[in-house]
Amino acid sequence: MNDFEYTATAIAHPNIAIAKYWGKRDESLNLPLFDSVSFGVNGLETRTTASWSDDIPDDALYINDCQVPPSRMERMLRIIQTVRKLKGWAKKCEIHSHNNFAHSSGLASSASGAAGAAVAVSCAAGVVLSQTELSALARLGSGSAARSIHAGWTRWHAGHLDDGSDSYAEPFAPSDYWPLNVFIVQISNEPKAVSSTECMKRCMHSPLWDAYCAEVSSAAERVQHAVINRDFDDFAAASHHNAMLLHALTMSCPQPVCYFAPKTIALIQKIFAMRATMPVCCTLDAGPNVVILCEDIACSYVSNEIAALDVPFVQTTIGGGTSLADCVVWGYP
Ligand code: PMV
Repeated sequence: MNDFEYTATAIAHPNIAIAKYWGKRDESLNLPLFDSVSFGVNGLETRTTASWSDDIPDDALYINDCQVPPSRMERMLRIIQTVRKLKGWAKKCEIHSHNNFAHSSGLASSASGAAGAAVAVSCAAGVVLSQTELSALARLGSGSAARSIHAGWTRWHAGHLDDGSDSYAEPFAPSDYWPLNVFIVQISNEPKAVSSTECMKRCMHSPLWDAYCAEVSSAAERVQHAVINRDFDDFAAASHHNAMLLHALTMSCPQPVCYFAPKTIALIQKIFAMRATMPVCCTLDAGPNVVILCEDIACSYVSNEIAALDVPFVQTTIGGGTSLADCVVWGYP
């Protein structure tokens, strides 16, 4: 028998939040303060293989063939340890993850990485979980990963319980519900200088924090309503408001963080100007890259504006989700 009797591979995709997760009520369980809403993206992909064995010395994580130091594996270990406890066994787990896009650069690789790991690690162990349970398991690795389990439009319920059992994402509209075009503009592929987790902590000390909370507490409801009604005007307004609030917060911390690069600002200004006459809007996560959504009529204008900046981009569609590609379980103890 080979070394890895228990192996599974999952394909996961990033998701882009329009009402963003920013601020935690519990750090170790990644429990958010507010609901968030996102869509999954096709094209960008993380392929994750997890293998359990008695013959490896310790749990290990490799991203794009480079081993992640054990000191930086803490979040993935939460997923591995949860599954190990469910099985009641002592086997170790090795995870190999490959992205077809730059990781830690604001393109949500932590979401697809942890969602893929949740599916691969549990399936390789022969543990059958519901989509809701997989969402909660993925959340332990990275908060936003809770939403990457599902394709299409998804809402992550913040929940109220201390154990996090009511904090998971649910889909509310399928991928083809609203055929928007998605442009992911890679202003930089450098890993970001300050992680989302660290920046979220700093933001709670911003003098704008209370105002931020008051504004975003209803953001998920507003965005979900706009998507269900395919109301582009309100969707665009909510998207710009939410993203700009987040970046105003990062820039107003006692230890400020500015994720914008010069071309980020140039592109945002162009999109805001186009918004006056066209169905186009944008959002940004905690990084310099810009995600643009538009209806068909605006596509050629958007492509021209991006081309003028001379930066790489991916044009794609709403989709995503996480699926099992392969699973071999040779037997159960
Ligand atoms: O899941 P994390 O810890 O990488 O945080 C992601 C936070 C944002 O991407 C900025 C917002 C979001 O909701 O995805």
